Amino acid sequence: MDRILSETTKNQELRTKNIFACRDVHYSYQGKFPALGGVDMTICAGERIALVGANGSGKSTLLNLLDGLIFPDAGSIHYLGRELTEAAFLDQDFSIAFRKHVGFIFQNPDVQLFCPTVREDIAFGPLQLGVPETEVRNRLEKLAKMLQIGHLLDRSPHQLSVGEKRKVSFATVLAIEPDVLLLDEPTAGLDPQTTTHLIDMLVHASEAGKTIITATHDLHTITDIADRVYVFGRDKRLAASGTPAEILANHDLLQTNNLLHAHFHHSRDHHKYRWESQEN
Ligand SMILES: Nc1ncnc2c1ncn2[C@@H]1O[C@H](COP(=O)(O)OP(=O)(O)O)[C@@H](O)[C@H]1O
Ligand SMILES: [Mg+2]
Repeated sequence: MDRILSETTKNQELRTKNIFACRDVHYSYQGKFPALGGVDMTICAGERIALVGANGSGKSTLLNLLDGLIFPDAGSIHYLGRELTEAAFLDQDFSIAFRKHVGFIFQNPDVQLFCPTVREDIAFGPLQLGVPETEVRNRLEKLAKMLQIGHLLDRSPHQLSVGEKRKVSFATVLAIEPDVLLLDEPTAGLDPQTTTHLIDMLVHASEAGKTIITATHDLHTITDIADRVYVFGRDKRLAASGTPAEILANHDLLQTNNLLHAHFHHSRDHHKYRWESQEN
């Protein structure tokens, strides 16, 4: 009983721990192309977040900011209480710890894959971060099995199909065993079976306690991958947030923010029932 109680308390503590705190975050590219116009968001450990919004509404920009690849022009982002700034990343200890804890699966796998073989690409991250070779081999074997990419390990990543590349991208990030996963449109361009497989991976990662933040257009997936959905508006600020069920039920919100296909709008009752039945 004591053990169960303390486990519960531990989980609650973990869940209430702020991983990211974004306060009034503004960003523009080259100082003249506005990309985020004041975003507030708090993300707790173990949460599953979906970022949805039309093209150009700032989803990828927010992921890049959360990964410390770019920094706010105004406002702030704190990661576990420490502000993400250029100076923070000059601190080697912080930078290495952050890269071990936070993994980013880019929208374009070609950006992620740069080694001559898939095997080297998957081993690259953990080796860079000082993981011993035997452990790297173990992780590689485990991931190859889980993602069903064992037959691709000696191939060149650039000769793979989009779905294969996407799985390898997943593997390169999961090999680091991060606590937080940032994913940019992970299911874009994938067939239904590969989409389902990758979503299963995310569900599995979430059950293992990881914090998962996914930018996506694919409203069909958000019930499976998110507890909380943030909708980005055309003004590059948050238009709404809620549970997947609440957001999916709000057709006006989805319509205003360019998240519904015209055919969906016309036949929305059919789709609505399909979504509702998925949720049950
Ligand atoms: N490298 C860049 N240079 C200039 N503007 C950019 C760049 N990347 C994105 N933007 C602009 O920033 C805004 C937000 O883009 P982005 O974050 O990519 O949106 P999303 O991921 O939601 O499609 C858009 O208006 C886009 O044109
Ligand atoms: Mg994007």
